[in-house]
Amino acid sequence: MAANVTIRTASPADAGPIARVHVDSWRTTYQGIVPAEYLANLSYRDRESMWHEALTAARTATSIFVAETESGEVVGFASAGPEREGNSIYRAELYAIYILQQHQTIGLGRRLVSTVTQRLLEHGFSSMLLWVLEDNHPACRFYESLRGEPVGRKTVTFGDAHLQEVSYGWSDIAGLAVKPQA
Ligand SMILES: CC(C)(COP(=O)(O)OP(=O)(O)OC[C@H]1O[C@@H](n2cnc3c(N)ncnc32)[C@H](O)[C@@H]1OP(=O)(O)O)[C@@H](O)C(=O)NCCC(=O)NCCS
Repeated sequence: MAANVTIRTASPADAGPIARVHVDSWRTTYQGIVPAEYLANLSYRDRESMWHEALTAARTATSIFVAETESGEVVGFASAGPEREGNSIYRAELYAIYILQQHQTIGLGRRLVSTVTQRLLEHGFSSMLLWVLEDNHPACRFYESLRGEPVGRKTVTFGDAHLQEVSYGWSDIAGLAVKPQA
């Protein structure tokens, strides 16, 4: 049940659990979209060191949150910070949001987005965008249900595959920061 899951700020000790969620949910989400070889080559260890660096970098403006069950299992995470390509309208970016398959569609995505955007507002941001693979239809529906507006597209490369990404933007994130009912 989503109500028994806590959303909290991540610490460096969460690098391993976040890496596990990251790799496992990439494999279930992108199977049939991203080349199988690319997904097979994802490494828990590489992701863990990447997340450890992000969680310990002193000057990072990145906000990282985890969704943790009562038994202490991390089942999802989200990270956000300054927009990375110099967009003049959308100043913050949701870099990643991933929830293990068996914990999806029970409201954790909404809660993570709400918590992340509250933190972005505290950091002085009022607008946000994110990038999502165009073929990731469930995630696109999720962002549309949060009233994201399609605002851009670009090609990204995974192994030898060239895929389309679309961006969704919110010019005012105050509405997203409203806490959904747990
Ligand atoms: C996309 C993701 C973050 C959404 O989080 P979630 O916890 O599953 O979504 P929620 O339960 O909070 O749903 C919120 C709304 O989004 C919509 N939604 C969520 N999943 C959906 C789906 N699979 N299909 C259609 N709509 C969906 C629903 O309309 C829901 O609205 P409701 O609360 O009125 O029913 C989560 O499913 C996930 O981690 N997916 C795999 C990884 C991924 O694709 N990440 C995004 C990469 S850019």
